[in-house]
Amino acid sequence: MSAAAGQTWNADAYARNGRFVADLAASLVDWLAPQAGERMLDLGCGDGALTQKLVDAGAVVTGADASPELVAAARERGLDAQVVDGQALAFEDAFDAVFSNAALHWMKRDPDAVLTGVARALKDGGRFVAEMGGAGNIAAIRGAVHDVLAARGYDAASADPWFFPTVADYRRRLEAAGFTVTAIESFARPTLLPGDISGWLRTFAQAFLEIVPAAERDAVVADVQNALHARLANQAGQWTADYVRLRFIAIKTPRQ
Ligand code: BEZ
Repeated sequence: MSAAAGQTWNADAYARNGRFVADLAASLVDWLAPQAGERMLDLGCGDGALTQKLVDAGAVVTGADASPELVAAARERGLDAQVVDGQALAFEDAFDAVFSNAALHWMKRDPDAVLTGVARALKDGGRFVAEMGGAGNIAAIRGAVHDVLAARGYDAASADPWFFPTVADYRRRLEAAGFTVTAIESFARPTLLPGDISGWLRTFAQAFLEIVPAAERDAVVADVQNALHARLANQAGQWTADYVRLRFIAIKTPRQ
């Protein structure tokens, strides 16, 4: 999942604060419709929770993730997983399908290189089925982080690790990389968090916290929490993140 500067992953914290990411992707696996014996790449496999579901369906799956910690957690499940930069994929004509959940938005440095690498990795006619953050994803959280950091004199824009494209932008990139897009949509998915926003920030927003001296980070998290409380927390103290998803099916156009 991580290909972003400043972001490292702790498998235990991820399991505590991010398990919902895989749990909410069941319908994306339906879009993929994995078949027994198909060879698949799970790009941004994280700790392998979803990779396991593809394996359970009979697919032969290689997991790839930029985080050594999460690849180790995936291997502990007995999965085949490799540390790979999604922006420099080196597979060729290897897979019937590439699957990706909640990972592409971390590959901000060169999103087009991701897509040309995925196209190269697929066999002709192979499918790329993925979900990522779309335009407007976590706008309230991202805005509060930027505002709090700016108020304290930090440049949040240069630390921002996320790429949340529109449908039109991503369709154009997919087509330029040699795909035929058969489905693409964006939709809001307000998501109840397993704890308060501080756990989410410490798990997913490290790139921002890294630009702040360690002694000031708790105060930044508290400021963001206070700024968001009225919008994202209910009377019972449950927090809902303002997720927006972009999901698509794209077929590698066969070469003539
Ligand atoms: C997402 O899945 O949309 C996401 C998760 C963590 C940080 C940013 C976005």
